[in-house]
Parts: sequence; C-alpha cells; structure tokens
Amino acid sequence: MNLFSAKDSTPSVKLEDYSLLHTDIHSHLIPGIDDGSPDMETTLQMLREFKSLGFKKIITSPHVVSDGYNNTTATILAGRDKVRAALAQNNIDIEFDAIAEYYLDETITEKITNKDLLTFGKNYILVELSYQQKQSGTFDLIYKLQVAGYRVVLAHPERYPYYYENDFATYYNLKDRGIYLQVNIASLSGKYGKGAKYTAERMIDEKMVDFIGSDLHRLTQFENLRDCLRLKHMSKILTYEKLLNKTL
Ligand SMILES: [Fe+2]
Repeated sequence: MNLFSAKDSTPSVKLEDYSLLHTDIHSHLIPGIDDGSPDMETTLQMLREFKSLGFKKIITSPHVVSDGYNNTTATILAGRDKVRAALAQNNIDIEFDAIAEYYLDETITEKITNKDLLTFGKNYILVELSYQQKQSGTFDLIYKLQVAGYRVVLAHPERYPYYYENDFATYYNLKDRGIYLQVNIASLSGKYGKGAKYTAERMIDEKMVDFIGSDLHRLTQFENLRDCLRLKHMSKILTYEKLLNKTL
C-alpha cells in the first residue's frame, strides 16, 4: 500500500492516536527513582494517558547513571512490580514492563561481565550518551556490548550536538556499526531545538530510524505528545513498515 503520493510526502492517512506504534520503549514512569514520575498516583495517571493515546504496551526505562541515579536491576524490577500491582488494583489495562536507559561509561563493562543488564525484545539494550561532549570510549563500549550479544539501541541520537553539528554522515557511521537508532517523538516538534528537529526529520526521510520513543518524564508532556500526531514526519514514521516498536 502506497501511503504517500508521488508529488510530495504528505501522508494520506490521518492519525488519531499511536495505536500503529503499539509499544513505547522510552519513558521514566517508575515512581521516585529518577527524574521522572515522583509518585504512584502520577505514574497511574501517565499510564492512563498512554492508554488513551492508543498505546498497548509501555516498556519504561529509568535512568542508570553511576554518579547520578544509582538504580540497579533489583530496584527497577521491584518498582515495575509495584506499578503492575497498582495497575491491576485500578483496573488499568495496559501491558507494562521495565528496562533501563543506561548512561554509557566504563561501569557498563562490569554489568556485561555479570550479565546484569535489562533488555527488551531481541536482546535490545537502550543506552544514552553525554549531551555535552563526545566521549572517547563510546565505540569501544558499544562494541563490547555487541560482542556479548546485545543489540545496542542509541537513545535520541538527534540530541547530541557533537554528532548533528558535525556531519550527517556520522549517523551512517552509527548505522554501519550495527547500532539501532531511537528518535524521540518530541524532537519532531522542535522541543529540543532546530538541530534536533532537522536531524530527526532527515533520519526519518532517509529511513534510518529503528525505534521511536516518548521519553516522557512528566504529565505535562502529554499535550506535546498528542500534538505531534499532526506532524507530517510523525505520520511518516508511524506508517514506516520497518519501525521495530511494532514488533515488541
Ligand atoms: Fe530518557
């Protein structure tokens, strides 16, 4: 089915919600363990919002940062189980699981050795990098993860200025290394600036995006998430047949 006319890339489908996506893989919904939801009531309200937007499954991803949010597999899974219990008690019907958004630094090597990494789908692992500056060991650490059998998903590649201000070819380098790219939905609205917006749009145009994620931290961000449904590139990525969110 050709959803796009030959003259331009305006999609012929109008999206009412995110049901085509099925699963979100990036958010901060476990109460009180990172800079996301502060309490269970907020978490439940956020999950009601996700459900009303057509999501069927939420795989939340609390930060794991060695000198910041010192979460462990145990704290994350305990938090997940409490949220699951609260969902059941409140009759909110949405599938809920938890992974982590691992900040990529040397501490990941110990986690590889101990097989202490939370994954989703086909052994995917979500990692983020510094926003400030390029770290010299990044590709070595990614390679170590890949050798250990993990499929590395890079969170919001369009938000790292040292990549997008350098050269778009950088993103092809990431793809060539077998790294999966997860674009943030809100980048398309310009929420993170023009560079991130342009880069996200171009990655969608060039079919480089493997996953998209909401990266939701707060209830107030749902308005933006809803508004993003009207964007041309949102329709384009949601109807992209190789988008992997749909496989989860
Ligand atoms: Fe995040």
